Amino acid sequence: MDKDGKIGIGLLGLGVVGAEVARMLIQKSERLSQKAGRPLFLCSVLVKDMAKPRDSVVPPRLLTTNPADILNNPQVDVVVELLGGVKPATDYLRTAIAQGKHAVTANKEVMANHGPELIRLAEEHGVNLLYEASVGGGIPIIGPLQKDLLANEITSVHAIINGTTNYILTKMSQEGMDFQVALRRAQELGYAEADPAKDIEGVDAAFKLAIVAALAFHTKVAVSDVYTEGISKLTARDFLYAQELGYTIKLLAIARRIGDGLSLRVHPAMVPNEHLLSKVDGVLNAVEIEGDLVGRVVFHGQGAGPRPTASAVIGDILEVARSIASRRGPARSGTVDGGLRILPMEEMITQYYARLTVSDRAGVLAQIAKVLGDLDISIASVIQKNADAARQTAEIVVMTHPAKEAHIRQAVHQMETFGVVRDVSNVIRVEQWT
Ligand SMILES: NC(=O)c1ccc[n+]([C@@H]2O[C@H](COP(=O)([O-])OP(=O)(O)OC[C@H]3O[C@@H](n4cnc5c(N)ncnc54)[C@H](OP(=O)(O)O)[C@@H]3O)[C@@H](O)[C@H]2O)c1
Repeated sequence: MDKDGKIGIGLLGLGVVGAEVARMLIQKSERLSQKAGRPLFLCSVLVKDMAKPRDSVVPPRLLTTNPADILNNPQVDVVVELLGGVKPATDYLRTAIAQGKHAVTANKEVMANHGPELIRLAEEHGVNLLYEASVGGGIPIIGPLQKDLLANEITSVHAIINGTTNYILTKMSQEGMDFQVALRRAQELGYAEADPAKDIEGVDAAFKLAIVAALAFHTKVAVSDVYTEGISKLTARDFLYAQELGYTIKLLAIARRIGDGLSLRVHPAMVPNEHLLSKVDGVLNAVEIEGDLVGRVVFHGQGAGPRPTASAVIGDILEVARSIASRRGPARSGTVDGGLRILPMEEMITQYYARLTVSDRAGVLAQIAKVLGDLDISIASVIQKNADAARQTAEIVVMTHPAKEAHIRQAVHQMETFGVVRDVSNVIRVEQWT
């Protein structure tokens, strides 16, 4: 509902992103109102702790700790959720939408776990629910999938969508840092949280992949459908071998259509050095989408930070404001119509890199080749390195031709119980683009 032609905005959260969104709404009010087609005004801002010292341009009279001041406020037309976490953010969004308010959120956890339900609710109530900032910060991904790429049958999405892990992997690759050292550096620079588990274990990327894949493939995707493996097992040695073999290791979020199935996975992957994604360094993000009409398109840029994220949030606010100003209903539909079967990870076929510590004696390679051969896994190349005379071991790196994940798991299991293989130190999937 608009009041005197003005569009009222209620902000839930005044943290890293909320403070920047509020600053823009206040300091650029006139310019943004021109773009919206109606005056925009900030009605009220929800915070948790009123006593917290804040370096914010928001007048203290607008702050509240009572969500009803926004959710039940008739002046508020658009509720912008920037709290983070599932609770109470999901409840607040439900309430806002059920009250006929438009909603904008940057919350990947909410959209990955409750997106379909909230989208349905918004459709029932004839309001917008926009969430561009939930994936890739300032990089436009949701909008293009909902509009510009809609004519396509999407065949694959390959994404680097977690800046923390990409920073760590870049340091490991370019400076030979160990994982723990690179993680500490990321924490010192504010790129990683004190508890970095969701980032380094791939959970954050899985949330974002679930959101993107649901839109790209018009399929219901649960976070649990995404096979998820983090980066903490990678060592400096893996990066050395990757370089020698012509690859860069990245945490990839991959969604690929295979027949009537959809493969969804987040894991470290060897990316060929000539591929664009191998060159996405530091905290930057990139999403490559392949469609039957458009071919491959790549969206690249800053996937986090207050200004890039505010760019996406304010873009959504302006789109909502324009739809209110023009009295047209929500332009974008997120309707999920199902269709594709989520493929079990065990059925996935790709190339593999395996680093093994073996007894340094004759016949070992033949035994390894036999285990692999019996499981239909053919070897593309082998590197043997670093004989350790004291321990009488050597390190062997095997690259396979495309093989089934289930067979590789069986092979690893057999080799681990195998006298001559002391240790399967790491197995990394190799991503190939045809
Ligand atoms: N930071 C980024 O670069 C980035 C990038 C993309 C997306 N996002 C998403 O944007 C959202 C916000 O992130 P952020 O980094 O701005 O978070 P943040 O700095 O932790 O700020 C959270 C804000 O919400 C308030 N808040 C939290 N729980 C509350 C509750 N129960 N009741 C009332 N207020 C509550 C906090 O109040 P107090 O100020 O009183 O503590 C704070 O103002 C998240 O969903 C995040 O995933 C962030």
